[in-house]
Amino acid sequence: MQDALHQLTYFSRNRLAGLEEALHDGIRDILSVARRNNATVGVTGALIFNSLCFAQILEGSREAVEHIFERIAQDDRHEDVTLLTFSPAAERLFGNWSMAYVGLSARDTERFGGFAGESGFDPRRMSADALGQAIYQLVYDRDGPA
Ligand SMILES: Cc1cc2nc3c(=O)[nH]c(=O)nc-3n(C[C@H](O)[C@H](O)[C@H](O)COP(=O)(O)O)c2cc1C
Repeated sequence: MQDALHQLTYFSRNRLAGLEEALHDGIRDILSVARRNNATVGVTGALIFNSLCFAQILEGSREAVEHIFERIAQDDRHEDVTLLTFSPAAERLFGNWSMAYVGLSARDTERFGGFAGESGFDPRRMSADALGQAIYQLVYDRDGPA
């Protein structure tokens, strides 16, 4: 069904170069556009990132998620965009956020030691399920339940 709820997960390599401040400005730009566009088409989700990678979950109608992901995949602020899952979902995980985000700063790396690890957060080494759960955990630990 075209408008049934779908969920998409991908990860990519961050190409926003530079110092922490430049990285944060870059993320702020991405988030403000993401929140505006996603709200318009009923897409919610979460983005997590560090200086090396992004991982993102998008949820909404199949058509809306597909459309947004097609644009994201062509964005040269990241590369090696790897789709992990795109399938029907029973419910939204991030219904309260047009785009929640968690940056893995040094403090987060400490706090989420098991996940961020010594060599940094590396979604290439995680299963889709583990990555989805980790994003969920990070967002809900940060912002609390709805
Ligand atoms: C890591 C990453 C995540 C992004 N997430 C979203 C998103 O959730 N929604 C969105 O509309 N654009 C997102 N973008 C931006 C899109 O690639 C694109 O620049 C934007 O959708 C263009 O919107 P505009 O035509 O309104 O300017 C993301 C970009 C990057 C690099």
